[in-house]
Amino acid sequence: MTETRHPVPEAMKEADVVDLLIHQHAMIRDMFDDVEAAAPEERPECFRRLTRMLAVHETAEEEVVHPYARRRIDGGAGIVDDRLKEENEAKRLLALLCGQGTDHPDFMSGLALLRVAVLEHARAEERYEFARLRAQASAAERRAMALGVRAAEAMAPTRPHPGVESATKNLLLGPPTAIIDRARDLLRRALRGER
Ligand SMILES: [Fe+2]
Ligand SMILES: [Fe+2]
Repeated sequence: MTETRHPVPEAMKEADVVDLLIHQHAMIRDMFDDVEAAAPEERPECFRRLTRMLAVHETAEEEVVHPYARRRIDGGAGIVDDRLKEENEAKRLLALLCGQGTDHPDFMSGLALLRVAVLEHARAEERYEFARLRAQASAAERRAMALGVRAAEAMAPTRPHPGVESATKNLLLGPPTAIIDRARDLLRRALRGER
């Protein structure tokens, strides 16, 4: 198991939102490796971790980063629309896989498809969206977005950790659609400064 290999996303140190999200893309890639390499009895937990990470990461991008990019970077509307299409396709594949379960005979081939979709999407974000954010958003704006992403993720932790009370304990269980809805709700409350 590689439980300790990944930092908890909300504890990540990057002050710049672009650095933070690129680091999370690397974590997501490692988590795909973990699911692929896991023994059959460990695979469900590895896949649950990947599912939670994807739900929280994509929701934070959709709530914090894409809206800003849409308004503020050159060609932002088209760039963000393309990224949302990719994210929706990845969510569709993820929901399909979750419905099948890790012991389904097609799980590994489905996982390979999801991996390609997610990692191509991450590359497109880095190349078309984040590069422009780096060039066209101020350092202060990028720091503020990182705070927003981290605040949101602290409320939607990708794994239980001490101090998280019962309200948030089970929020990231269940099918991806439920996880995403719950993460989005918590994220919006975090961005409004509620707890
Ligand atoms: Fe994304
Ligand atoms: Fe991303």
